[in-house]
Amino acid sequence: MKQAVNLVVAIDGPAASGKGTLARRLADILTLRYLDTGSLYRATGLTVLNTGGDPTIESDAVKASESLDLSYFSAEDLRSEEAGVAASHVAFIPSVRAVLLDFQRSVAANPGAAFKGAILDGRDIGTVVCPGADSKIFVEATLEVRIKRRLQELMERGEPVIEARIRADMTARDKRDRDRSVAPLKPADDAWVLDTSNMNADEALAVALDHIRGTGPFKIVSLDDTC
Ligand code: CDP
Repeated sequence: MKQAVNLVVAIDGPAASGKGTLARRLADILTLRYLDTGSLYRATGLTVLNTGGDPTIESDAVKASESLDLSYFSAEDLRSEEAGVAASHVAFIPSVRAVLLDFQRSVAANPGAAFKGAILDGRDIGTVVCPGADSKIFVEATLEVRIKRRLQELMERGEPVIEARIRADMTARDKRDRDRSVAPLKPADDAWVLDTSNMNADEALAVALDHIRGTGPFKIVSLDDTC
């Protein structure tokens, strides 16, 4: 008999550490619903900018988070450097985080019948959003490697890139994410830290899969031959 499973996987890490690529590929292979929680903060930040507001002002940011319409933005708009910086400003505001929390938790709890669970990536999934996740991976890479990856990503999308600007943005964003008082970027006590500085995407995927399959419900599922 098949085991009912609602596996929850939490993937956290700093900007351009490779967590998004990893989470997307894990979701495909393990039939998990994927939620890129950064896109919620990015959409909130862009909504503030588009309506002439200031992402550092609480009332502007909360209003945007409450009326969020993700379908309004293209993936390209969301992945721009401008959106990333605006996201980290609105994400600094505790009341914005509180507005976005319920939606993230509801995806983890109810991923939909087509899925065996959910995988969420962000900064605080293992610590705040899903502290009871079955598997927690904190993806790291050195600043130099992450800057190279972000430059590559922006160049592939045809965005103008100035290395000094990307370096400054990423350093400031890292600092804001790590130093904020609510839900700072840090590994949960029970997270497995995966340093991808010397790994390509395939290598990171292989070790992450081994890790997840060795923990939690997937151990049972694979014995039961359902995945
Ligand atoms: O892709 P990248 O890692 O550059 O950024 P992202 O995951 O899309 O997140 C953009 C910004 O949103 C981050 O710098 C954080 O400030 C914020 N964020 C957060 O605070 N908590 C999350 N769970 C996800 C993103």
